[in-house]
Amino acid sequence: MATLKEKRTCGQRCEDFGRFVWNPDHGTFMGRTPVRWVYISLYYVAFYVVMTALFALAIYVLMYTLDPYAPDYQDRLPSPGVMVWPDVYNEEDLELVYNTSEKRSWTRMSRCLKDFLGPYNDTLQEHCHTMHKCTPGHYNLQASFDAPGHTKWSCPFLQSMLGECSGLDDPSFGYNGTNPCVIIKMNRIINFLPNNGTDTPPYVNCTTLEGHENVAGMTFFPINGTFDLSYFPYYGKKAQPSYMNPLVAVKFHLVGQRSAKIQCRVVARNIAYQNFYDPYEGKVVFKIEATS
Ligand SMILES: *[C@@H]1O[C@H](CO)[C@@H](O)[C@H](O)[C@H]1NC(C)=O
Ligand SMILES: *[C@@H]1O[C@H](CO)[C@@H](O)[C@H](O)[C@H]1NC(C)=O
Ligand SMILES: *[C@@H]1O[C@H](CO)[C@@H](O)[C@H](O)[C@H]1NC(C)=O
Ligand SMILES: *[C@@H]1O[C@H](CO)[C@@H](O)[C@H](O)[C@H]1NC(C)=O
Ligand SMILES: *[C@@H]1O[C@H](CO)[C@@H](O)[C@H](O)[C@H]1NC(C)=O
Ligand SMILES: *[C@@H]1O[C@H](CO)[C@@H](O)[C@H](O)[C@H]1NC(C)=O
Repeated sequence: MATLKEKRTCGQRCEDFGRFVWNPDHGTFMGRTPVRWVYISLYYVAFYVVMTALFALAIYVLMYTLDPYAPDYQDRLPSPGVMVWPDVYNEEDLELVYNTSEKRSWTRMSRCLKDFLGPYNDTLQEHCHTMHKCTPGHYNLQASFDAPGHTKWSCPFLQSMLGECSGLDDPSFGYNGTNPCVIIKMNRIINFLPNNGTDTPPYVNCTTLEGHENVAGMTFFPINGTFDLSYFPYYGKKAQPSYMNPLVAVKFHLVGQRSAKIQCRVVARNIAYQNFYDPYEGKVVFKIEATS
């Protein structure tokens, strides 16, 4: 029996393989005649060309119906979120706690603000926005794309607009003492017009939730804590690549225990602030404390 399943020598195997690659009896190459190879190759080439064309057509139709300058799904204009810098968290709460007699503890705060304001550098901002005239107090509405590269103009926001909280005169931003600054930023929302497009700009209003007696006063920069109308509307990253969020800085004058819980709210008729599920919608709450 064993002889029937006789082991084939290596030479025989090689010969079999050779016959598979080129069989002179049937004139086949790898099991097919050259003509059949040409047919089957043509078939597959045609098949993939058609598939690729269909796919490209589907993508093209999709892209054609999308506006590259606007987000696709916007059921309602949402209300903007509000953030505060320095963004120092203790567990989940924002706690700006520093020790005036420990340089390291307060330079952490001032460095955070300095880094945050880096892109707002006056030289940089003025360089980026030389061509366009912005009129304070008026919306920066633009129907066409007149800025270079088929974009729209943005108004510059300069670090120096934050006055005493700009870090230009006092690089410690008040953290070497008891008059610390915080910076409030409102998130951008495409096509958002504050107060439903009326002439009233949104402004920041901070209230003391705890420790009223420890806050002798607050100073807002720019004046009245307003976000000027010329920073609205925002047309999107592609339309306004050089857009900078306007900012408002608040300087607190801490006395007594020098500890307070503050809520800063951006006030406008169409900015909600009582969303239980999103505590940062329209407002931000933080603790500020200067120990020594
Ligand atoms: C702003 O940028 C200019 C030029 O890059 C630089 O000389 C200047 O020190 C910067 N100002 C601040 C406050 O960082
Ligand atoms: C904090 O630094 C500023 C600028 O260097 C200085 O004018 C001010 O006196 C300092 N304040 C305290 C309390 O040291
Ligand atoms: C502002 O517009 C929103 C949405 O269009 C509307 O719900 C709201 O009533 C308007 N508010 C005022 C004061 O007109
Ligand atoms: C700021 O908010 C407080 C509390 O809601 C209110 O009493 C005060 O009038 C507001 N100030 C401004 C300028 O809107
Ligand atoms: C700041 O607010 C006061 C009082 O509401 C107002 O009289 C003044 O014109 C405002 N200043 C600016 C620059 O908006
Ligand atoms: C603040 O720093 C000083 C000097 O290092 C230290 O004596 C003091 O205990 C610190 N205060 C607090 C509340 O940690």
